[in-house]
Amino acid sequence: IVSFFRPKVLSGRRVLVTAGPTFEPIDPVRGLTNRSSGKMGFALARAAQQAGADVRLIAGPVALATPWGVDRVDVETAQQMHDAVMQSVADYDVFISVAAVADWRVAQVSDHKIKKTAAQAVPSFSFIENPDILATVARLPNAPYCVGFAAESDDLETNGEQKRIKKNVPLLIGNLGPATFGRDENEVVLFDASGATRLPRATKDELAGKLIAEIARRLPDASL
Ligand code: CTP
Ligand code: CA
Repeated sequence: IVSFFRPKVLSGRRVLVTAGPTFEPIDPVRGLTNRSSGKMGFALARAAQQAGADVRLIAGPVALATPWGVDRVDVETAQQMHDAVMQSVADYDVFISVAAVADWRVAQVSDHKIKKTAAQAVPSFSFIENPDILATVARLPNAPYCVGFAAESDDLETNGEQKRIKKNVPLLIGNLGPATFGRDENEVVLFDASGATRLPRATKDELAGKLIAEIARRLPDASL
């Protein structure tokens, strides 16, 4: 279906999306990252744009084309993603936090490539916790409508609802890893104040359209 025929459920809305992993350097050639292709976040940005929203997509390192009409900002680290989100967020009504943000970064990034030694001694690293972008945005006095994502390895029903409460967001979308990583299809569960709703397995593009409709009808003063 061409976008022309889709209902413009987000017209007049401004939507900020994060997507992809973040990359936390260890030295000039190595780093720590999370598993995420960015497909779900990019599909949501595209679907929001097709639903009539003004969309900014803040993306970690991914190999994906920018959806048509979407304003894309590329970042590498969690701190850069945090800063880009905080600079933009006041102008947006909806924040969809799809990025798989690395929870930790190494405390001391080496300026030089760390070399293997003859003694086969392995390096050790100490870590610092990265800012929690979604929780920070959700706490803002004029917070946009916040949607979280969670990839859990097991017990999605319990972990999803607990995470929604912990992050203090009205809507959290859960899926199971590693089943979703890099795939074109996904199966998700929506968690909101009224409970859990499972959507049937579908392509990430189809799901994105459905999720945008689910988000749109939950927005304050949504015209139904
Ligand atoms: N998130 C974020 N910033 C972080 C970590 C997570 O914005 N530093 C967002 C993600 O984009 C996602 C949601 O928070 O929307 C849940 O991420 P997840 O990693 O599942 O939650 P954590 O609180 O980091 O819990 P866990 O210990 O399970 O990793
Ligand atoms: Ca995490």
